[in-house]
Amino acid sequence: MEQKEINLINYALFEEKYKKILITGGLGFIGSALIFRLLKKTNAKIFNIDKLIQKGNSLSVNDQFYNYGKSKYQTINHDLKDNESLEKIFKESDPDIVFHLAAESHVDRSIESPRNFLESNVVGTFNLLENSLNHFNRLPIKRKSNFKFLHISTDEVFGSLGKSGLFNEKSNYKPLSPYSATKAASDHLVDSWFNTFGLPSLVSNCSNNYGPRQFPDKLIPKIIINAINSKPIPIYGNGLNIRDWLFVEDHINALLLMAFKGKPGAHYCIGGGVEKSNINLCKIICNLLDNLKPQQNSYSSLIEFVDDRPGHDFRYGIESKLIFKEIGWKPIFKFDQAIKKTIIWYLKNQDWVDYVMRESGYKGERLGTIN
Ligand code: NAD
Ligand code: TYD
Repeated sequence: MEQKEINLINYALFEEKYKKILITGGLGFIGSALIFRLLKKTNAKIFNIDKLIQKGNSLSVNDQFYNYGKSKYQTINHDLKDNESLEKIFKESDPDIVFHLAAESHVDRSIESPRNFLESNVVGTFNLLENSLNHFNRLPIKRKSNFKFLHISTDEVFGSLGKSGLFNEKSNYKPLSPYSATKAASDHLVDSWFNTFGLPSLVSNCSNNYGPRQFPDKLIPKIIINAINSKPIPIYGNGLNIRDWLFVEDHINALLLMAFKGKPGAHYCIGGGVEKSNINLCKIICNLLDNLKPQQNSYSSLIEFVDDRPGHDFRYGIESKLIFKEIGWKPIFKFDQAIKKTIIWYLKNQDWVDYVMRESGYKGERLGTIN
């Protein structure tokens, strides 16, 4: 796996272009995978804007980032909905590139408290764009020609598919949940900053990610965590809704290639090409757990069908032809191996699960309003 990553991305050339990198949302699931990769493979200086550590103690990943040295990494505890002090952050970090991942990211939470989504995803993106543009306009010519603003978005902005067809860059926007509506709004803001002000921005619309350090309220970690704690595994509705699963390290490859070779103004659709119904995915994970941590009864006996999510999108599926054609990205991790690797990570890192649940106050309860 290591070797394939190295072959795909030329880190020496990457580092030559991008010596100072500003990442938002880097204490989250995907942002932390991006930071670990950059810290391991480059000597770039990473600045990470995240609001999470306002909750108190720094998160465990934060400490791990600092193990690489203060000259390589810095967390900036800031909520993007506040514009104040962003200018100072930009002046001090002086980035060559911005990766914008900070967002309220869970559909169920967006049903429960949509205002947070508007503030973080729309106002937060607006504030970041304004400050990125001011920074971009101040850069000397050579740095200006390399500068990029990467906005990490989702396939959910396209709405829901029926049984056939795939989303691609030409699909119409038709967001159906408060989460996807705010992500769609932020994508439009980013495009307008490219079109109107010339900010060299790119947007990625990717499918459901899985891998280590995903917050326990999302489907895959929830299945694993509930199973090993002998708690019911809740499957919404009839379990036949379909998602296209992408291993997080494949997503990081796509983001680094986009930074390096992507065309400003472009959108790239990024999918794992692994479509599974929720019930099928759940049974796969239970079967793997039956082998990895055998118990008297199969873990699948814990599956419970529960009330459906209001407005539940039926299916997402992505065609990733453009990103392959233009910048040579395709998923390289095999689902069977990557899902096993993910399960093993959760089995070995129950301390992390306890820690983030304690810090966040999430106790495994059902989120979202049920009609
Ligand atoms: P996550 O919820 O694990 O992490 C998001 C991080 O952003 C958190 O650390 C949070 O504290 C931070 N954040 C949120 N609002 C903020 C604000 N106002 N100011 C500063 N920091 C803030 O989410 P993730 O799964 O890592 O997703 C990262 C990005 O990728 C999001 O933009 C999401 O929309 C997008 N995305 C995720 C998936 C997926 O399957 N996880 C799929 C497609 C797109
Ligand atoms: P989720 O991980 O919340 O991602 P998204 O809504 O962005 O796709 O959910 C993935 C799928 O799993 C989705 O169809 C809803 C379903 N789901 C359940 O069936 N049970 C659960 O407890 C959760 C969290 C999700």
